[in-house]
Amino acid sequence: DKGNYRHFMAKEIHEQPEVVGRTLAHYVNCTAGRVELPIDLPFDFKDLKRISISACGTAYLAGLISKYWFERLARIPVEIDVASEFRYREAPMEPGELALFVSQSGETADTLASLRYASAEGQHVLSVVNVPTSTMARESDVIASTLAGVEVGVASTKAFTCQLTVLLALAIAAGRARGTLSAEDEKTIVDALIGVPGLMSEAIKREHQIEILAREVSKAKDVLYLGRGTSYPLALEGALKLKEISYIHAEGYAAGELKHGPIALIDEAMPVIVIAPHDSVFEKTVSNMQEVAARGGRIILITDEKGALEAGLDTMATIVMPMAHPIVAPIVHAVPIQLLAYHTAVFMGKDVDQPRNLAKSVTVE
Ligand code: M6R
Repeated sequence: DKGNYRHFMAKEIHEQPEVVGRTLAHYVNCTAGRVELPIDLPFDFKDLKRISISACGTAYLAGLISKYWFERLARIPVEIDVASEFRYREAPMEPGELALFVSQSGETADTLASLRYASAEGQHVLSVVNVPTSTMARESDVIASTLAGVEVGVASTKAFTCQLTVLLALAIAAGRARGTLSAEDEKTIVDALIGVPGLMSEAIKREHQIEILAREVSKAKDVLYLGRGTSYPLALEGALKLKEISYIHAEGYAAGELKHGPIALIDEAMPVIVIAPHDSVFEKTVSNMQEVAARGGRIILITDEKGALEAGLDTMATIVMPMAHPIVAPIVHAVPIQLLAYHTAVFMGKDVDQPRNLAKSVTVE
């Protein structure tokens, strides 16, 4: 049931404050301001030398954001690959380490094959899944459920932000176990996480501005997305969302890679969407934006209140998000990129819930 929405995708975008709130309440003790995992882990984070993550599509990009979190908060090296590569790479794995899989459906063929490989290599298998009765859930040593509810739209939205929520809770738990995250810092991040549903509701209020902007984006043949740090995977996610439902060619790049090639593409015809909350790499991203502006590129900047004040650049549009702690900012900044892809595709008259050539669950290779 789509309720009052035109598409499931719209409904699912709007549901995010609620389902992210529900998911985080499952992993966090809100009064104590600390993570309390609702599962028994068959390993101790402090014994791990490495985590290997594999997944596909949007779930892979959630994993890529969590790499930054696990490395920063828990100082664990993380290896990550798309499952279709991982499964055939014959990656050497030391028994007793952690292999982490992320999947909405829990049925994706390549992710499942990777899981079986890792299991045979003696890894502890932990899966972040949305469908608790899925094959991956059954074959894992332990599952960390996302409580996104049924996701119908082929373009994953609420499953993604719930995956991020669970992965952050795991990274915080890992940081505590390894003594790399103080109780005080844990409380700061957990309090920030508890604030995320409210900030996502705020983000959704930019929908009208984004809808108008989408008309401009719909005219483009190509769109470039740029970001640094955790905004880099978000740039990839923005490009993936736009491609799959509007069929506009889009690419995501690490902002620092701009001058290693893609800068050659910049002209007035190609919108450049820059995702840059005011975090520790903000200044660096701003200088990449200046390079785009100097070549006549049209910038759509997605930032926060502080970033909007400090960017000091002429943009085609600036979408201003509420301030969020930098660790949780990617969860909030996911909302405008979803809305932009959605409204662009709707404006172009595309079937956003059932894009051509795509299936909700990719159970064949
Ligand atoms: O069910 P899964 O999370 O394993 O699916 C993985 C990808 O097929 C999926 O995220 C796909 O990329 C989405 N259509 C993206 O919106």
